[in-house]
Amino acid sequence: MTKLVRCTILAVLGGAVAACGPRDAPEAAAEPVVLRTSMNDVVKPQTELVLNILIDALSEPPDPAVDPAKLTDTHWEIMATAAAALRDEAVALRDRPIRVVAAPGEAILNEELEGAATAADVQTHIDEDPEGFGAHAEELRLDAEAWLAAIEARDGAAMWRTALTLDPTCVACHEAFWVAEEEEHEDEDHDDDH
Ligand code: HEC
Repeated sequence: MTKLVRCTILAVLGGAVAACGPRDAPEAAAEPVVLRTSMNDVVKPQTELVLNILIDALSEPPDPAVDPAKLTDTHWEIMATAAAALRDEAVALRDRPIRVVAAPGEAILNEELEGAATAADVQTHIDEDPEGFGAHAEELRLDAEAWLAAIEARDGAAMWRTALTLDPTCVACHEAFWVAEEEEHEDEDHDDDH
């Protein structure tokens, strides 16, 4: 595991994937996950797929709840597939080494903004605390699993409850790992380093 993580750092710094050489553990499961791709291509769109269907099926205030009568078999199928994809991605984020971006010099969202976290900042935070990152990914897996169970049970209330817990799960991981280096140390002091 340590060896793989070190390879990941090398790859990010120098683009030298080949320098890692053959791995001790050859399973495909040990291939790094490119976090930015995972977020943009899987985590966000699969979450939105389920959320948009749920929101369309909400009943009127004051007590909005998902009304299963508004959902067709196709809706259920799409939601179940999306929740399962989210769950599987959470497992990958939990168990596999993380490379924040695919290529050296590739930027993450908002990186160009002053004081924002860079891909290198995020990579450093994850490499310093892979267990903490894994714990957040496990939270995401639990939410996705609860979503899937609620969808399979066609339980509107449980689906909506899970939808409401999901957003804080995203935010908690972002707040822990998607932060600039200097922000951690000097919250008050905004200099022009980045
Ligand atoms: C286990 C940690 C973790 C969880 C859980 C998580 N994220 Fe992320 N996400 C990150 C980190 C770290 C970044 C910053 C690196 C980056 O932007 O790629 C990020 C960045 C993003 C980005 C910007 C990607 C880019 O272009 O740079 C989006 C969009 C995103 N997350 C969506 C979500 C949504 C939606 C959820 C919840 C359903 C979620 N994330 C849950 C760790 C997580």
